[in-house]
Amino acid sequence: MTARTSLTIVLAAGEGTRMRSSLPKVLHSIAGESLLAHVLAAAPRGEGAAVAVVVGPQHDAVEKEAKRLRSDAAIFVQRERLGTAHAVLAAREAITRGADDLLVVFGDTPLITAETLARLRAPLSQGAALAVLGFRAADPTGYGRLLLDGSKLVAIREHADASEAERAITLCNAGVMAMDGRRALAILDKIGNANSKGEYYLVDAVAIAREQGLDAVVIETSEDEVRGINTKAQLAQAEAVMQTRLRQAAMDAGVTLIAPETVHLAADTTFGRDVTIEPFVVIGPGVSIGDGAVVHSFSHIVQSKLGSNTLLGPFARLRPGTSLGDGAKIGNFVEAKAAVLEPGVKVNHLSYIGDAHVGAHSNIGAGTITCNYDGFNKHKTVIGEGAFIGTNTSLVAPISIGARAYIGSGSVITRDVPDDALALERSPQTTKEGAAARFRSAKLRQKK
Ligand code: UD1
Ligand code: CA
Repeated sequence: MTARTSLTIVLAAGEGTRMRSSLPKVLHSIAGESLLAHVLAAAPRGEGAAVAVVVGPQHDAVEKEAKRLRSDAAIFVQRERLGTAHAVLAAREAITRGADDLLVVFGDTPLITAETLARLRAPLSQGAALAVLGFRAADPTGYGRLLLDGSKLVAIREHADASEAERAITLCNAGVMAMDGRRALAILDKIGNANSKGEYYLVDAVAIAREQGLDAVVIETSEDEVRGINTKAQLAQAEAVMQTRLRQAAMDAGVTLIAPETVHLAADTTFGRDVTIEPFVVIGPGVSIGDGAVVHSFSHIVQSKLGSNTLLGPFARLRPGTSLGDGAKIGNFVEAKAAVLEPGVKVNHLSYIGDAHVGAHSNIGAGTITCNYDGFNKHKTVIGEGAFIGTNTSLVAPISIGARAYIGSGSVITRDVPDDALALERSPQTTKEGAAARFRSAKLRQKK
């Protein structure tokens, strides 16, 4: 049996006015990824799995994000917001191409999973024309209600059009629908707009399918998975659900989270074995953490790679492009950016290492700063392996420090230092015997 082909249509035309933001709604993020990215991540992919994204007018940014995530995504513009069925039909050209399964998902419902979409498609392969994702709503107000006859779905009634008896139903429409791809247009083209809002409602597909003697079924899921986002408060709720999922997945994979509720992860964070994350750590997108690494409290990591048995923090900040070799150690109040630290490098306290390459087993003393920016351009610092950079050194880039070189504390280094050399840049010290005692007694005599 060959796998069934699919077309997933993502409705992303929503303005999101209640977000009170200039950013289109589906471009807001949870767990470091846009809402659209989460939805597209759940959509079927691979051979025979097409994707279409329906965007509003002037939504170039949404189109760009869709293309970034799925270069094969077809983009359709819905010029007027005339309802969910009207939005689906904006992708008519893609529907006409014909797929076995047509999936319709909302771009503002980011918690949907690939497993649920697979469950929703299953009845189609058994002859159903339509499968609707349903959930039991704690408060069903505003949702479409699922009207059942035994196990068969008969119709979906929008809240505004529902009778008192229908409003008492708590089984609601999540908005996600799977349709027989070959019968979809014959159903969608029959949907009218004779309802209280005058919109073309996708949900009317159910009653039309029934009139055509076709079967419609409900697949249930949890309310948490189908939370739609209209406001910043709902965005925060979805973030919380997603974080709980990501923490659980990390712990299931063997990561030790001492206080999981205080650790913030990204959807793409990867962990090796026996990683420990202490309380209050924030991990942004693009982070991988190797075997045996320990991330101490109050560290913030974005687009960085931690090798195995690395130690980070407490209070460390890794900015994009940082890579820590195996066994490297970054201590408290250290910031690194676009810095490659080879294995065994130590930067234990109070440093900034930016636009730098540090050779294996070098020791960077407390207070060392790479002066990478001259107010106009960024410059690179290269430190060879086994170098020792004394405390409170300024390395004025572009600069190169040789392997096994030794820099005396407090130096401002502006010229390259060769391998095995010692460089020292500081004013000569003056010491006056007994002068402190004389100074102190003079001051005591003057004191009133
Ligand atoms: C919809 C469902 C309702 C369901 C609820 C679940 C319909 C008619 N109603 O109601 O049964 O319980 O979702 O959250 O489908 N959109 C467009 N173009 C349009 C209209 C909508 O792209 O012309 C997009 C929106 O951006 C949104 C989605 O479709 O992503 C749903 O539209 P919305 O108006 O939010 O529908 P609801 O009233 O929430
Ligand atoms: Ca909605």
